[in-house]
Amino acid sequence: IKAKMTIDKAFKISKVNEHIYDAFVEHLGRDVYGGVYDPESPVADDMGFRKDLIDVVQSLKIPQVRYPGGNFCSGYQWKDGIGPVENRPKRLDLAFQSMETNRIGINEFQEWAKRARTETMMTVNMGTGSIQEARDLFEYCNFKGGSYWSDLRKAHGHSDPYHIKTWCLGNEMDGEWQMGHFSADLYGQKATETAKLFKWMDPEAEIIMCGTSSPLQPTLGTWDAGVLEHAYEHVDLMDMHIYFKNDMNDTQSYLGSALVFDDYIRSGIAALDYMKVVKKSKKTVNLAFNEWNVWFILEDTDKRSKEELWGPAPSLLEDYFTFEDALVVGDMLISMLKRADRVKTACISQLVNVNAPFMTEVGGSGSFKQTIYYPYMDACLYGRGVALTTPVEVDCYDSRDFGDVPYLSAVSVYDEENERVTLFAINRSVGEEMELKCDMRAFEGYELEEHIILHDEDPKAHNSLKDPEHVAPFRGQNTARIEDGRLSALLSAMSWNVIRMK
Ligand code: AHR
Repeated sequence: IKAKMTIDKAFKISKVNEHIYDAFVEHLGRDVYGGVYDPESPVADDMGFRKDLIDVVQSLKIPQVRYPGGNFCSGYQWKDGIGPVENRPKRLDLAFQSMETNRIGINEFQEWAKRARTETMMTVNMGTGSIQEARDLFEYCNFKGGSYWSDLRKAHGHSDPYHIKTWCLGNEMDGEWQMGHFSADLYGQKATETAKLFKWMDPEAEIIMCGTSSPLQPTLGTWDAGVLEHAYEHVDLMDMHIYFKNDMNDTQSYLGSALVFDDYIRSGIAALDYMKVVKKSKKTVNLAFNEWNVWFILEDTDKRSKEELWGPAPSLLEDYFTFEDALVVGDMLISMLKRADRVKTACISQLVNVNAPFMTEVGGSGSFKQTIYYPYMDACLYGRGVALTTPVEVDCYDSRDFGDVPYLSAVSVYDEENERVTLFAINRSVGEEMELKCDMRAFEGYELEEHIILHDEDPKAHNSLKDPEHVAPFRGQNTARIEDGRLSALLSAMSWNVIRMK
């Protein structure tokens, strides 16, 4: 396969908002208990937080972590998780049929975030929770002192306010699976009234409303417009969710999944901009993807018997992600970078143990990085700067699920400050390598720094505790070169490529 492209600093899309590299931690399975907090583990710190996970968050410079849910937050009573640990009630979590011990609450999570050098994106309960409870939480976290809730925070040993900037008004409220699911109209009203109170307490607060939770939702578009009808002037971002899986076990087709993501992004933007017109608004609301990933739900991952339900921290959604999943994750990152002008926040779902890039041996010291960790890591490290439109000329293949799919998916990011440009490229062909020629004369004098490749012959290859580096990136040897402002590179069949130039 032959492909041509141009990288030019004049083709600016937008500065990449670093918040597209956020992550998500939920009180679900062994994400919090066993991932974030695992006091039995030899790698736990003095507060019981796993240091290996803290290292991951620090090394990837994950700017913000969404917490505490997910479906969990729609039944969560945050007041259960503050004050002396021994007084905290155990509660049924109806979302995942588990027991919530409340050992970890807002204050412990804030301490973890501080140690991991990240920020919290707080999701409030808009399901069973009231507007009053949401505004109390805001006051508890963010008010300096001298009021009931802020003084209670101080009494709990946290004198300084947390200054949590980003607040999500519930989770997947369009889904009938959600506790307290309402119509777009009702949710739109409740979200708007909550947003008003948050902004009255802090006009700088960033507010995110729930848009559609899957491209398969029958209410895609109408839900978003229905909520925006009420909320447009009161929110900053609209949150949509998306997961892919290879349910037909057709790798070539699966590798075209990002085309659906591209369409989904366009539908979100369309709903937002339609409402901007209707409201004659000067303001632009942007998109958040606060849950995005692959999710290998070919089989039921909840293996608990009836008797085993309602225990604390069960092992749930602990998929082994395959090499082909890593390519789809990389492609989703490319989709978001291509719309860096409108996609301003995104959380990989989730951070640890639950559908996650990083897995821990609960109670032990082991851990491993899943295949999907690597494209996420590359984007976190090298995808900061200005996203550049990177037009490609390449053939398409006819896929079972998505029609014509170009063999090459690519985007580039220009880090003006450090004078570096990075090309992210996927050869989607299962069988053929690709000769790529790229005109980059606009970057005069730039030389090749490295060509990072993630490739495996086996699309189903995966990592595990026993074989943690079965799929791992490597540096290409003589696989790329720049001559007279022209880059030539050889991209293996089924490969994620990061070509860094300076
Ligand atoms: O990530 C697991 C679950 O998936 C989240 O709780 C929910 O928001 C989504 O449906």
